[in-house]
Amino acid sequence: MSLPIPATVMNELESAARAAASRAYAPYSRFRVGAAVLGASGKIYSGCNVENASYGLAICGERNAVFSAVNGGERAITAVVIYTPTQTVTAPCGACRQGIREFGPDARIVSICDGEDRIDTTLAALLPGSFGPENLK
Ligand code: THU
Repeated sequence: MSLPIPATVMNELESAARAAASRAYAPYSRFRVGAAVLGASGKIYSGCNVENASYGLAICGERNAVFSAVNGGERAITAVVIYTPTQTVTAPCGACRQGIREFGPDARIVSICDGEDRIDTTLAALLPGSFGPENLK
């Protein structure tokens, strides 16, 4: 089980996710996503979705944030916050759930938006019975 994350840290993650969404490159879908990841070190990393004229190459904000954390030296993540400038929340897509799973099987997952809607759950709840690095041992 994961340790509780202080409200001050959750607020910082929310701010980082909002800021990341403002940097999204989404000229094709016009759907902006910002994500922030809390590394085990306590550092915060963010990512936005980046689309491409070759549509299938789009990368989600969540995976960009996870990859940024890994590039920052993290090997474990404890929380992910996802922000979309919409009235309803966005849960991470299937690919991103698996991407988060690699480093944060017990991570807390929070989705926020411009409306009252909010998701506050765990990766394990979003991806039960998951495949991970342990399976390859
Ligand atoms: N997208 C994300 O960044 N995260 C999600 O969880 C769902 C989808 C992006 C991919 C694409 O750039 C746009 O949103 C529309 O699918």
